[in-house]
Amino acid sequence: MNANAPDRLPAEKAERRIDLRSDTVTQPTDAMREAMRAAVVGDDGLDGDPTVRELEAAGATAMGKEDALFVASGTMGNLVAALVHANRGGEALVDEHAHVARSEGGGISRLAGLMCTAVRSHDGMMDLDALAASMRGSYSRHGAPTAMVVVETSHNHAGGRALPLPYLAAVGERARAAGAAVHVDGARIFNAALAQDVPPSAIAAFGDTVTFCLSKGLSAPMGSILAGSRDFVVRARSYRRMVGGGLRQAGCVAAAGLVALRDMAGRLADDHRRARALWTHLRDQEPALIGNAPDTNIVLVHLGASGPGGATACAARLASRGLLVRPRDADTLRLVIHRHIDDDAIRIAAAEIVRAAGMGR
Ligand SMILES: Cc1ncc(COP(=O)(O)O)c(C=O)c1O
Repeated sequence: MNANAPDRLPAEKAERRIDLRSDTVTQPTDAMREAMRAAVVGDDGLDGDPTVRELEAAGATAMGKEDALFVASGTMGNLVAALVHANRGGEALVDEHAHVARSEGGGISRLAGLMCTAVRSHDGMMDLDALAASMRGSYSRHGAPTAMVVVETSHNHAGGRALPLPYLAAVGERARAAGAAVHVDGARIFNAALAQDVPPSAIAAFGDTVTFCLSKGLSAPMGSILAGSRDFVVRARSYRRMVGGGLRQAGCVAAAGLVALRDMAGRLADDHRRARALWTHLRDQEPALIGNAPDTNIVLVHLGASGPGGATACAARLASRGLLVRPRDADTLRLVIHRHIDDDAIRIAAAEIVRAAGMGR
């Protein structure tokens, strides 16, 4: 850390904006831009795009699955998975704070036709008894049969929690007993894997299928991978077309995804270290603001009572100082660390948050 660095943003006009809204703000690297320029491409909807195919093969290998499909976004990956697993019928069981239920436009119900049932959860993990009690077999007389269970790791709403592998195994057991598929929403599966010191495939193994994003901490400009069995991917390809995700010379962006997979997973350790540093600064200055130490690259700040101290007002105060954050809910801020956040930014962010939180009390 630079000892001469300022510990405050200039009050009037921030010379330097610190953007902790999401790791999706990461810009493509020079290597990605060069790979995009040089990509060999074809028509992926006709006879195929070789660079897309290469990315799909690399994505499948990383996840330990037979095959994979390049999709425009994590949302599209989760939607297509729901379409295949449920074939426009049945029920999806998800944790009550799952991204797929809260932040994807309700697509698994409105487009994929699944009834979406939120299971009581804590720290990103569904209550296993509640999960088992919610399962309905295919001959249920009263409810829609459970077609799919979704687990999310790392868990966005739970502050980037990397869900314990025994928990994932327990979910899988219960789902299988009811004949339901397990889909892993692994938008940040590389963060979860790093935190648990396992390859991402060791996490994906708990799901029949998995989505992960190239466009978050891995810094690609767009795109996600949906992986599963060969048969699943054949059907997913058809549903991807149905939802408008059939692409043409997509190798132009898949090339950046290949660089993301090859070069970027290792550096997520820097994000995790800095998230921990931010948490430590906050703990040292204002311990009431934080909970457990972060597993990955997300830090939650608990502001206490809403009103003047509410998260929206606090985020606005911070934005006026050049620090961009997003409220997670009425009294919690979510801070996401990524490639463009250095050690000085962490120190400044901590000081600004303590100041802005204090003003709301
Ligand atoms: C856990 C999780 N799943 C899915 C998504 C959706 O990804 P996308 O924004 O690419 O649609 C996100 C995005 O933040 C996410 O955090």
